[in-house]
Amino acid sequence: MLFHHAVGALPWLLLAMSRFCDDAEYAVFTELMENDFLHTSTDTLSEVGWAPQVYNVTAANARGPYGKSMELENVITNPLKDSKAWSGDAEHGGDAGLELWVRGAHQDGLVSGAEVVSSRTDALLGSFRVGMKLSNSSGTCGAFFYYHNNSQEIDMEFLSRQFNESQGFVNLVLQTPESVEHGYDASGTSGFEVQRLPFRPDEKFHEYRFDWTKDRVSFYVDGTWLHEMTQNVPTEGGGLFFNHWSNGDPSWSAGPPGQGHRHDHLLHESLLQQHRHRA
Ligand SMILES: *[C@@H]1O[C@H](CO)[C@@H](O)[C@H](O)[C@H]1NC(C)=O
Ligand SMILES: *[C@@H]1O[C@H](CO)[C@@H](O)[C@H](O)[C@H]1NC(C)=O
Ligand SMILES: *[C@@H]1O[C@H](CO)[C@@H](O)[C@H](O)[C@H]1NC(C)=O
Ligand SMILES: *[C@@H]1O[C@H](CO)[C@@H](O)[C@H](O)[C@H]1NC(C)=O
Repeated sequence: MLFHHAVGALPWLLLAMSRFCDDAEYAVFTELMENDFLHTSTDTLSEVGWAPQVYNVTAANARGPYGKSMELENVITNPLKDSKAWSGDAEHGGDAGLELWVRGAHQDGLVSGAEVVSSRTDALLGSFRVGMKLSNSSGTCGAFFYYHNNSQEIDMEFLSRQFNESQGFVNLVLQTPESVEHGYDASGTSGFEVQRLPFRPDEKFHEYRFDWTKDRVSFYVDGTWLHEMTQNVPTEGGGLFFNHWSNGDPSWSAGPPGQGHRHDHLLHESLLQQHRHRA
């Protein structure tokens, strides 16, 4: 059963995974999972079903001028000071929520970034939702996605270079056998769509969502339908991911933040934040 709660000004993510029934009119999902990052601290992140990732990728494998270094210290919980409140001051300032930081390039040419993965890797069909506020520093990619393998992946990707004072874009992507044939590049396939957003994604939290049923993947922002894809719909269970990274590829993430200051690592930083998360 999919519950739709009104949560006032607070965004959240709903992850509904299913043993399910589904027809042209509606779908009923039978599992519900929710994370509330307004009230979650670092010590408990794995206990609440998420695993921060630690790994390095060389520039060659990252397919950009820079490699990537996903680091534990870049995943930071920042709960509300008052554990009974739903708004107010956060423990270390700024907005309350889970923070994923990109912190410029190390001297070895790896850009320090962040990734978290759900402990469950059996997400299969459902409505997946997150409240996110993207980075305001140009030159990173922030993503919310499901991943089984390189030909079964559903992504909502935000490139901070595509934001300006009045608007932004979201890149809607299915990685498919077709994108694998095109060198892991979905652009130019039916699994790639860039949608304009009538707001700056770095200014406030918004709800980003994809509904994945057997015959389609539909994408939504703040409950408004944006686009659907009906070819190469994934069929296998996988994990849910959030990441924030840069490899300096001018045609994608661009950046990294702090380029030209490569030796002052940690000087230039970029932040993606999540409030809540439900399933
Ligand atoms: C990744 O690279 C950084 C910077 O060179 C290094 O400090 C770190 O230990 C490496 N991490 C892993 C998981 O290999
Ligand atoms: C970007 O966001 C950070 C963190 O919220 C803030 O400190 C900084 O002033 C912002 N920068 C710009 C250019 O808006
Ligand atoms: C992904 O998984 C599917 C289903 O198991 C398989 O058919 C396909 O070959 C895999 N794709 C890649 C790129 O490994
Ligand atoms: C923001 O970008 C859009 C699309 O590229 C453009 O039409 C608009 O004029 C830009 N606005 C500002 C304030 O730069």
